[in-house]
Amino acid sequence: MKFVCGNFKMNGSVSTISDYVKSLNELDPEVLENLCVCVPHPLLGFAQEAKFNLGAQDCYLEKHGAYTGDVSPALLHECGAKYVLIGHSERRKYHKETDSLVYKKALVASQCHLTPIVCVGENKDQINDRYEVLRAQINALSVKFNDKPIKSIMIAYEPVWAIGIGEIPEPKIIDSVCEFISELAIKIFGRKINVLYGGSVNADNAEEILALKNVDGVLVGGACLEIEKFKPIINQASRY
Ligand code: PGA
Repeated sequence: MKFVCGNFKMNGSVSTISDYVKSLNELDPEVLENLCVCVPHPLLGFAQEAKFNLGAQDCYLEKHGAYTGDVSPALLHECGAKYVLIGHSERRKYHKETDSLVYKKALVASQCHLTPIVCVGENKDQINDRYEVLRAQINALSVKFNDKPIKSIMIAYEPVWAIGIGEIPEPKIIDSVCEFISELAIKIFGRKINVLYGGSVNADNAEEILALKNVDGVLVGGACLEIEKFKPIINQASRY
């Protein structure tokens, strides 16, 4: 099966999370293993019954300390998270996260037994230079920080201009960009890592995206919020 990761963003509530979890828990065990939902931090505590993987949407770059308002990756792991999104374009845009900060967060997350899902992607005005933009974002992950490499990692290709608008790049472009990322990642990490596609994935386009050879899974924002819209995407991914 290909991997499916939902991203609640700043949505979801205590009153609805338990029905949501129950409904996804009905899926087959193999599907549950390849499914992750990244919820806002407080909801981790209300989703403990989940048989699928839980994820967070950000973490701090230290394990503990005097950092008011930030959340430690070690605590997220203790709260049941297995994955954490790092460097989502909304973090890069609204919180001015840089490639070097993204690297540090990914490294500390992986030391705390979380798998970072590092988001990369070009803005609309960078479309013609997208390979250079992506190369810089991904090469930043290769910087040795105290000589400790990142252990487990996934990369999500999310063209910023395709997020939340209902339109995706041409499938052949998605495929070749994901192949480019995968080959670059092999050079950096010395092994194949999963490359996801994200940006306006929905029940109507999931089939053609998931059929692409170099796409190992999808990162789903808006369409993961309602079970009826999310389940068809998960079903498509489970056909591989
Ligand atoms: P979207 O968001 O599926 O709503 O476009 C994807 C994301 O930002 O992770």
